[in-house]
Amino acid sequence: MKAIKRIILLSSISLSSFAQFGLTPAQRDSINKLTSEDYNNMVEQLGIDRSLIRRGPSGNPNDANAANSSEEKVNKYTLPDPLMLKNGQKVKNVKDWTEKRRPELVTDFENEIYGRLPQNLPAVNWQVISVKDTLVGNQAITQKILKGIVDNSSYPAIKVEINLLLATPAKAPKPVPVVMEFGFIRSPFNAGSIKPIGLGSSGEPTWQEQLISRGWGYAIIEPSSIQADNGAGLTKGIIGLVNKGGRRKPDDWGALRAWAWGASRAIDYFESDKDVDAKRLAIEGLSRYGKAALVSMAFEPRFSLGFIGSSGAGGAKILRRVFGEQVENLASSGEYHWFAGNFIKYTSKLTPNDLPVDAHELVALCAPRPVFISSGSPQVEGQWVDAKGMFLGAAHASSVYILHGKKGLGTMEFPKLGMALTDGEIAFRQHAGGHSTGPNWSTWIGWACKYWSDCK
Ligand code: GCU
Repeated sequence: MKAIKRIILLSSISLSSFAQFGLTPAQRDSINKLTSEDYNNMVEQLGIDRSLIRRGPSGNPNDANAANSSEEKVNKYTLPDPLMLKNGQKVKNVKDWTEKRRPELVTDFENEIYGRLPQNLPAVNWQVISVKDTLVGNQAITQKILKGIVDNSSYPAIKVEINLLLATPAKAPKPVPVVMEFGFIRSPFNAGSIKPIGLGSSGEPTWQEQLISRGWGYAIIEPSSIQADNGAGLTKGIIGLVNKGGRRKPDDWGALRAWAWGASRAIDYFESDKDVDAKRLAIEGLSRYGKAALVSMAFEPRFSLGFIGSSGAGGAKILRRVFGEQVENLASSGEYHWFAGNFIKYTSKLTPNDLPVDAHELVALCAPRPVFISSGSPQVEGQWVDAKGMFLGAAHASSVYILHGKKGLGTMEFPKLGMALTDGEIAFRQHAGGHSTGPNWSTWIGWACKYWSDCK
């Protein structure tokens, strides 16, 4: 599993092998064909000349067109100021931020990068499929398996059922905080038993055990049950259901916002479950699910904490920074489905420097809620995720936290491997392992304790 994840990280071609794990070659061909058709349709809708579309660099460091991995070769760029209104005036207080600047940023992110939530979103009816008392490690838990059945009466040909697992310490005397992961309930690499992924092999307790031993709960929501992880799926899933099987318009939402929408529906359920303290919910994810976790945190105020793992480009990494993965990779046919179609414009006539916003402002949308930006070691994880680019996304969001009377990241200096910047509401740590949030869980929990006060 680790090996597979590492390969995915290195190139966006192998990326599709992750999304398509377990499929037959014929199914894979069909997905690729439908994906190109959908991508080409979007390019046409945008009126873009195909020959003007720039290709992204390769994730394989041995390729001639390898992505930049040298700090000396990083370009100069100017970041938009999160505290400057479009009319040139400075944001002076929280009221200006909340009423004027934040809505400007939300509109830019929605129009140009992640897309807008549709008006006609259907209701979700949560059903508890099973409840069982069991163990995680040697900790007793109550585990519920749930399904969020999406009302498809407007277009019965598309069925969407969101898979969710919730585990809370057995016989907890009161409602507990819950950390929800975008992940797999049944591992796609070991489809047999329900065995949530964790560290396991490293000898440390899994993240689930660490949370339960704190007296907290965990949940896992399956993104692919909300929206498929490929362009072919855009006429299905929740995006396809709302469009009645039709194609997206350029500012329609992409998979990241759809996954985040599903996470918000899970919160609706948590608010009705007496085992859960819905005022203390966190969202966690790795890689593309790290991007989804940051998007969820930015747009959903009911998440009180975030744990954003190796989110890279499209997550916390500064998009203007030429290092590792680039906008040209994100908006290519392999990954454009995560975003609004409009994002493709920035790979042809426009460039990433023309984006009205950058990743630091996505982090800023979380303010004043605490958010932890996590990364692995470049030596093990590779340079594709651009740890420093994510650090800069965190650091440049600080002014917005400070405006709220909070502490931002507290430094502009990229810390050494392993050093935890956890004094403030924006936290950052590069652990010594690979493409995983695993080795940062104990640091995250220690930091989260400050905010979720009653931890044991
Ligand atoms: C690819 C992709 C990244 C993504 C990663 C993953 O490497 O380019 O943007 O985060 O896959 O989700 O594993």
